Amino acid sequence: MSTAASDREVSSGDLGAGPDEHVLVDVKGLKVHFPIKRGVIFDRTVGHVYAVDGIDMQIRQGETYGLVGESGCGKSTFGRALLQLEELTAGSVHFDGEDIASLKGETLRRRRQDMQMVFQDPLSSLDPRQSIESLLLEGMQAHGLVKDKKAAGTRLRDLLKAVGLPPAALKKYPHEFSGGQRQRIGIARALSVDPKLIVADEPVSALDVSVQAQVVNLLEDLQEQFGLTYLVVAHDLAVVRHISDVVGVMYLGALVEEADADALYEEPLHPYTRALMSAVPVPDPTVEDRRGRVLLAGDLPSPANPPSGCRFHTRCPWRQESRCDTERPELRVIHTTGRAADERPHKVACHWAESIADGTLAPHEVDPSGGEQFQNPGNPQGVTGSFTGPASVTEVN
Ligand SMILES: Nc1ncnc2c1ncn2[C@@H]1O[C@H](COP(=O)(O)OP(=O)(O)OP(=O)(O)O)[C@@H](O)[C@H]1O
Ligand code: SF4
Ligand SMILES: [Mg+2]
Repeated sequence: MSTAASDREVSSGDLGAGPDEHVLVDVKGLKVHFPIKRGVIFDRTVGHVYAVDGIDMQIRQGETYGLVGESGCGKSTFGRALLQLEELTAGSVHFDGEDIASLKGETLRRRRQDMQMVFQDPLSSLDPRQSIESLLLEGMQAHGLVKDKKAAGTRLRDLLKAVGLPPAALKKYPHEFSGGQRQRIGIARALSVDPKLIVADEPVSALDVSVQAQVVNLLEDLQEQFGLTYLVVAHDLAVVRHISDVVGVMYLGALVEEADADALYEEPLHPYTRALMSAVPVPDPTVEDRRGRVLLAGDLPSPANPPSGCRFHTRCPWRQESRCDTERPELRVIHTTGRAADERPHKVACHWAESIADGTLAPHEVDPSGGEQFQNPGNPQGVTGSFTGPASVTEVN
């Protein structure tokens, strides 16, 4: 989408913090690097996978943060790191003001009650030998939430009702349910311990399209009913847009853009986000024409050997030799006029975000093999030619 055609205009500037709401999750400089080991007798560390490599993020109480990006960019690792299911290489995660990386043993286990996970594949995350009753009771017992049999029975039935399943489901086993019903059980299990935060990792991508919307709607209803905060990880832009208040776009272990969901979809500013959006069909042909197309060239580079400077420079149609290859851009606030008072600041990690948005910097072709790039100043609106490969992020309507 071109800036001229939008209500929003872009310039440099720092707008400071967004709305003054309670920050439930405060992530600073988070890194998760996995060692690559080689050797027959002695394991030698020969390198690292930089799965998460410097993320700052705030999730406010009661909101839904949608995290999108290509497969392998580190979304799941980030979600797991929030819940302390991965060891942090660097950085901190404060949950409700408490530094949870410093918690150990029983204190961490008790804190985990507040942070639950919903997985992509409910069948593999539910023990097939346990009845639904036993699956739901497990967490409640572990956190001392089962006072007596009668109260537990009432709570189990309430949980099933909340996720739209009948009480008879308690005596059944996971294989007796459809994919959508199993995901409802996965959600009930997360809810059973009364959490504050739910990290939902691709919660609907294993489900039929017809069932996806029902589960997304259920998540929204439950959020309202129980005052939940969500981090929803998805490669599907439609799911993220539908459910999220704020969206973060991830590329090779870092955030490249973050904004209110509507602002991000209306005016994507980072070249990578633009490419992801280009893969999303827009029903309005005028909008489709206006926004131009930016196709992603080449594959995602290996997170074990990320490009220097801006990590997107090997695929970026706006890459400039002066800074892009050597200087890693910070995620910084970009001033957008037309921004509502309660909107989050729009943040972008690109040295040239303003010039790209106002059209003073023209895109050029990218060699998908990662070789020489060609300046193409005569093609400021749409980029075609040797650009290959659709973005892996898809939209379902
Ligand atoms: N335990 C691990 N040991 C080594 N490498 C890992 C480990 N877990 C993840 N990785 C690597 O870290 C990178 C990020 O993986 P991650 O699963 O977080 O990506 P993702 O964005 O969730 O991808 P997808 O959309 O496919 O689920 C990948 O290159 C992956 O192979
Ligand atoms: S910093 Fe350079 S390479 Fe990175 S997104 Fe911006 S223009 Fe492209
Ligand atoms: Mg994943």
